[in-house]
Amino acid sequence: MSQVTSQYLQNCLEIATEAALAASAVLLKYWGKLATVEEKGRSGDLVTIADKESEAVILEIIRRNFPNHSILAEESGQFTSNQSEYLWAIDPLDGTTNYAHQYPFFSTSIGLLIDGVPQVGVIYDPIRDQLFRAATGLGATCDRATTPQGDRHPIHVSPTKTLDRSLLVTGFAYDRRETPDNNYAEFCYLTHLTQGVRRSGAASLDLAYVADGRLDGYWERGLSPWDLAAGVILVTEAGGKVTAYDQTPFAIDTGRIMATNTLIHEELSSALLRIAPHKLDKFFSNIS
Ligand code: IPD
Ligand code: CA
Ligand code: CA
Repeated sequence: MSQVTSQYLQNCLEIATEAALAASAVLLKYWGKLATVEEKGRSGDLVTIADKESEAVILEIIRRNFPNHSILAEESGQFTSNQSEYLWAIDPLDGTTNYAHQYPFFSTSIGLLIDGVPQVGVIYDPIRDQLFRAATGLGATCDRATTPQGDRHPIHVSPTKTLDRSLLVTGFAYDRRETPDNNYAEFCYLTHLTQGVRRSGAASLDLAYVADGRLDGYWERGLSPWDLAAGVILVTEAGGKVTAYDQTPFAIDTGRIMATNTLIHEELSSALLRIAPHKLDKFFSNIS
């Protein structure tokens, strides 16, 4: 495992912030002004000039500052270097469907994995000017883009103790029409057990909202490292817990995540394991 100093992580955080803010200027430039929206192959998986141009801006900044680090960027793919224990996972526009429909919930998400573990994360929502940041051992914060370093506002997960008092969030992957593992059963069941389940459409902000205590928990499958890297370190540094559904250690390559305020982790895990698509009909025929 590589040893990194907090000074080094802080520097990574500052550069990632610079990149996220530069990318967000591109997103705002095209906001409401898209001439065309393309599909990437799979039905419903959209891409726009804003995704591509904002990614180019991020790549230039990360490469200039960290020429030896590897990069995994949603629109351009993977660039591997010898010093491959450092991997930047970049989503230039998380929430492209929202963005294309002018639904104001999207972000830029930039995470740094060291030896496969998320250690630095920056998520910026340019519509609300909310900048979420975290790094291992440095805590998690939410500020405006212009907030000076000394004034940063720490964030913490919610104090909600039980699932029936929780507000959750989830999402549905682009393969949902092709797989029975489409999260529909889990969504129905958790809607029944909680105060509500949101489907906001930007995985990175879903995680940031768990970190900030606005939501109590999140689960989803079919995600990519760029959706998750930054949000995972935010939740962890804000006092939350991130694992697989069965509470085994989180592994970013599985694309499956359960993130909570820690207090409801056990209950959410057992609900997710209890429900399965084939049990849903039986469940709803038995409830009053
Ligand atoms: C998507 C969003 C969405 C999640 C999808 C992701 P994109 O990312 O995060 O909330 O449910 O699985 O792919 O395509 O907008 O970057
Ligand atoms: Ca995404
Ligand atoms: Ca994206």
